[in-house]
Amino acid sequence: MADALKIGIAGLGTVGASLFRILGERHNMLAVACGRDIRVTAVSARNRSADRGVDITATAWFDNAVTMAAEADIDVFVELMGGAGDPAYTAVKTALNRGLHVVTANKALLAKHGVELAALAEEKGVILNFEAAVAGGIPVIKALRESLTGNTVSRVYGIMNGTCNYILTRMEKEGLSFEACLKEAQRLGYAEADPAFDIEGNDTAHKLSILTTLAFGTKIAADDIYLEGITNISLEDILAARDLGYRIKLLGVAQKTASGIEQRVHPTMVPQDSVIAQVDGVTNAVAIESDVLGELLMVGPGAGGNATASAVMGDIADIAKSRPGSQLVPSLGRPATMLDAYIRGEMQSHEGGYFIRLTVEDRAGVFASIATRMAENAISLESIVQRPQAATQGDDRKTIILVTHATTESSVRKAVDTIETEGYLIGKPQVIRIERPKAA
Ligand code: HSE
Repeated sequence: MADALKIGIAGLGTVGASLFRILGERHNMLAVACGRDIRVTAVSARNRSADRGVDITATAWFDNAVTMAAEADIDVFVELMGGAGDPAYTAVKTALNRGLHVVTANKALLAKHGVELAALAEEKGVILNFEAAVAGGIPVIKALRESLTGNTVSRVYGIMNGTCNYILTRMEKEGLSFEACLKEAQRLGYAEADPAFDIEGNDTAHKLSILTTLAFGTKIAADDIYLEGITNISLEDILAARDLGYRIKLLGVAQKTASGIEQRVHPTMVPQDSVIAQVDGVTNAVAIESDVLGELLMVGPGAGGNATASAVMGDIADIAKSRPGSQLVPSLGRPATMLDAYIRGEMQSHEGGYFIRLTVEDRAGVFASIATRMAENAISLESIVQRPQAATQGDDRKTIILVTHATTESSVRKAVDTIETEGYLIGKPQVIRIERPKAA
């Protein structure tokens, strides 16, 4: 049997503690599968004595993750601290420079420094694995990096944030408030340390930027993503969508367009009978459209200790199975030096239907004016309805919901901008894009 593979885990939060426990429980099973022992020989976290439900007393302790990366007796540095900056960035670079393999679940770090870190791993001849960084336990990195090699990908999209999907699902099914659902997602260990990253869409954007690179072979461009989170989605929107036969999901979409690659993250209405609409709670789904295979849809647990630890365990097992001198799979699907420049496709070219919710003063001519503004911008309406009075509204205001046929982002913007100047609107209009996914 080969020598044991020695692991150092930096970060013992929900995921790190789950990983530590699972690697211990499955020691024999992993040894058989990998042909060698996998042993956690070092750990690092902020607080040594925190109660994590695991016994770390027999494992070498480091107060500082960078010191652990530089000095610990380990073969693999597992980074589960999170955050795009330090200590994660310096710790991972230190580990790679020292010739250690690295496994990370840190999408923010990869979104910012992924190309540099992949290049460094390649230069040092070590593995940089990050399956857990995107869509929790779903093996989407491996699918794009390895299984779809030779395919030309045209689109990748999906539900990539468990916290947001959990919130939207519980609001719809149980009529709970946004805040109550978010608190529960935090309690269950789904949310980021700062949950603003979840609900404002940044987490999905980080994940999408990684998928874009793997799908299209371009450099990571996390700052070139149109971004809207779910903080403006009200229970009223969710219920109106349901009555119209739709569900609201936070989708990340990356696709090739005539002008480049379009990356966007925003709340999206999908038909209730589509597969993606059925993806509830913390579950994630990623669809990949490619020319040889066609559409691949992967659905599975998207966040939480065990789901994420499962992906990290798989990455560690891949390292344990690799043999010195064997060809390594490039972290980003192709050598980092071979990645193409990213060219942004214009978001304004996005076409599809739109849901528009307007709260208006209840007076003559308002309906006609709205319909006129739509017609002026060549927007064809699928429906226009007045919603029943909400208990909180007075008699002097009404909610009007429009659903448009396919039109352009710029036409909708122009129509809504004009409506906003006409004096009958109360509050901000709500605009949600509608997607009709092919198979998903
Ligand atoms: N906060 C993330 C989510 C964790 O809710 O999906 C998994 O990346």
